[in-house]
Amino acid sequence: MLKSLALLALSSFGICLAKIYENVADLPGLQYDFVIIGGGTAGLVVANRLTENLKFSVLVLEAGVSNEGVISSTIPFLINNLLLPNIYEWNYTTTPQPGLNGRVLNYLRAHMLGGTDLMFYTRGARDDFDRYAKLTGDAGWSWDRIFPYFLKGQYNPAVHSTHGMNPVSLSGFAWPAGNLVTEATKELHDEFPFNLDMNSGNPLGVGWLQLTVGGGKRSTSATSYLEPIAQRKNLHVLLHAQVTRLVNPSRVSGKLTFGGVEFVQPGSSPFIAKATKEIILSAGTVGTPHILMHSGVGDATALRALGIPVVLDNPSVGQNVSDHVSVALSWSVNSNKTIESISQNVTAFNEAFAQYNKTYTGPFVEVGSTNVGWLRLDPQSEIFEEFPDPSAGPTAPHIELIFSAGFTLRSAATPHGHFMNIGAVMVTPLSRGSITLNSSNALVPPLIDPQFLASNFDLFVVRDGLKRAQRFVTAPVFKDYILAPTVNIANLTSDELDQFIRNSAGTISHLVGSAGMSARGARYGVVDPDLSVKGTTRLSVIDASVLPIVPSAHTQAATYVIAERGADLVKARWT
Ligand SMILES: Cc1cc2nc3c(=O)[nH]c(=O)nc-3n(C[C@H](O)[C@H](O)[C@H](O)COP(=O)(O)OP(=O)(O)OC[C@H]3O[C@@H](n4cnc5c(N)ncnc54)[C@H](O)[C@@H]3O)c2cc1C
Ligand SMILES: *[C@@H]1O[C@H](CO)[C@@H](O)[C@H](O)[C@H]1NC(C)=O
Ligand SMILES: *[C@@H]1O[C@H](CO)[C@@H](O)[C@H](O)[C@H]1NC(C)=O
Ligand SMILES: *[C@@H]1O[C@H](CO)[C@@H](O)[C@H](O)[C@H]1NC(C)=O
Ligand SMILES: *[C@@H]1O[C@H](CO)[C@@H](O)[C@H](O)[C@H]1NC(C)=O
Ligand SMILES: *[C@@H]1O[C@H](CO)[C@@H](O)[C@H](O)[C@H]1NC(C)=O
Ligand SMILES: *[C@@H]1O[C@H](CO)[C@@H](O)[C@H](O)[C@H]1NC(C)=O
Ligand SMILES: *[C@@H]1O[C@H](CO)[C@@H](O)[C@H](O)[C@H]1NC(C)=O
Repeated sequence: MLKSLALLALSSFGICLAKIYENVADLPGLQYDFVIIGGGTAGLVVANRLTENLKFSVLVLEAGVSNEGVISSTIPFLINNLLLPNIYEWNYTTTPQPGLNGRVLNYLRAHMLGGTDLMFYTRGARDDFDRYAKLTGDAGWSWDRIFPYFLKGQYNPAVHSTHGMNPVSLSGFAWPAGNLVTEATKELHDEFPFNLDMNSGNPLGVGWLQLTVGGGKRSTSATSYLEPIAQRKNLHVLLHAQVTRLVNPSRVSGKLTFGGVEFVQPGSSPFIAKATKEIILSAGTVGTPHILMHSGVGDATALRALGIPVVLDNPSVGQNVSDHVSVALSWSVNSNKTIESISQNVTAFNEAFAQYNKTYTGPFVEVGSTNVGWLRLDPQSEIFEEFPDPSAGPTAPHIELIFSAGFTLRSAATPHGHFMNIGAVMVTPLSRGSITLNSSNALVPPLIDPQFLASNFDLFVVRDGLKRAQRFVTAPVFKDYILAPTVNIANLTSDELDQFIRNSAGTISHLVGSAGMSARGARYGVVDPDLSVKGTTRLSVIDASVLPIVPSAHTQAATYVIAERGADLVKARWT
């Protein structure tokens, strides 16, 4: 089995060599119908769908590395290894965050084909998408109209399909904590009702986590959209190709268009790739506005201050970004069937690894999170006297609770012992941040300022989420299981609790909005509802940056449907 696994990796590498290039000198040419910038979650979906038309030639320029043969990208339990400073990461940090008492956070961004998501598959609420439709004036983004695109993604019964590209499954390993959480939903039914499938458009309640995992292996757009079309001759992917800017601007019937895409390979002087039909930015929520601004598309005053020639004044580029904030609580438990039983025991870790290698079963098939809950604030909550409700509507939660059988993000700081963890995530931020430039050199990282917890509303939601988590563990079923909290927040004053939140909050990397969609003719926004960049022609953005507001969910599912529909919109323009 081990041998065949290795063989499989080798042979698919062999096939892919025909179209995944490491060196620009090996590319047959630099002129294509479409140039896609970025081969992350969205970029590879678009590449697959466009090359279904064998008349279209497509080049993907990816700054990062291949996913091929990267064990930590394939084995779900090892995904943590990708999230450190390494070649799979851009190694960004945020600017000092006033809402986090001035802390600077590491800000994870994928630097590899298919991205570095943690596999959580959550579509969000019906109201999230209906609001996108309303904001853009395009009913095509509504839940009902986007739903078929979700089914193109994956399989599973009921609200899922069996003909999709990207496998989604329930956890393939039963940590005891998962059953206890489900039992607790019966005991505390009023506040935490059980939800059989949170991906139906009605996520509220507590249910089992779904993951983009198939056959025990992590699934990304690289494995599910790129690998299966390795033989397609009209698609080329160039790795280690960092796009610096779009060049040769001109006007076509009053609209801006760019003649080429400038990129560098490590140490090289710039090359220019040409798109005869369209340039598609899929460089993600940080990369896409970064490239636009270096191309002279952005806030004119800010660009001039850096000496970047202004090609198109659009003050919305990089502005209005939103992201989720989370704080985790942990409790020591009276059990050794926790993540720690393998993460803190080398013998057990190797046994689990060997089991996985043999049969693709055991704890390595998932990440250690078992259930997810989606909750709304009490409508009578005093916070609504001060702030309007930012949630998309009654089907959309304010709070997410992530239940885990121990510490999923393992580090030197992880305490010794056995634990159950609950992460409280604020999923309806009122805070808005920005991506801006700090240099006219496109190889210098941008300033990433998500403005975490800038709004007191956001702080309130985290506080409420932590209280919900504490109430959850009072369910009778936990009586003999939970021993003590690692940090006792029950005895903190309200000010102390706020400080605890500001000092410990992190992010789960769901940034969106840096090239937000708005209605045609709106006075703000970066792309039209058809994802073409306002004021331009032959230039689109297809990635998470177009979502004008972060959905009340993890963002990969939304990114997949943006990419699927975005590809359809592009195809419709050219066929
Ligand atoms: C660590 C982490 C964990 C996450 N976990 C989950 C999860 O469990 N579930 C979930 O739903 N969502 C998760 N997300 C969020 C989700 O992964 C993203 O929202 C989604 O992948 C966004 O897709 P994208 O195509 O917009 O961007 P990305 O997938 O980030 O792709 C952008 C690509 O463009 C490339 N690029 C950038 N700049 C350039 C340039 N100048 N030139 C060439 N290439 C460039 C990058 O290297 C990258 O490959 C996670 C995100 C992170 C960072
Ligand atoms: C991130 O840091 C690691 C370790 O220092 C390095 O190897 C890698 O090249 C860096 N990533 C980028 C995109 O520079
Ligand atoms: C940010 O978004 C709001 C709508 O939510 C809009 O009114 C405002 O103009 C936007 N700001 C920028 C700089 O685009
Ligand atoms: C778990 O605990 C039981 C009983 O206390 C013990 O026999 C067993 O070796 C432990 N297993 C692990 C993996 O720690
Ligand atoms: C470590 O795991 C092994 C194998 O499962 C088990 O026999 C042993 O008891 C564990 N050690 C501890 C300290 O729990
Ligand atoms: C499992 O397989 C991988 C890849 O072939 C190998 O690196 C690893 O050492 C194996 N681990 C065990 C415990 O067999
Ligand atoms: C921005 O640029 C200035 C000047 O080069 C530098 O001192 C500063 O550290 C940069 N800021 C960040 C957050 O990188
Ligand atoms: C809260 O209780 C813990 C012990 O459970 C104690 O260590 C801590 O000092 C207490 N904090 C306050 C502010 O009383």
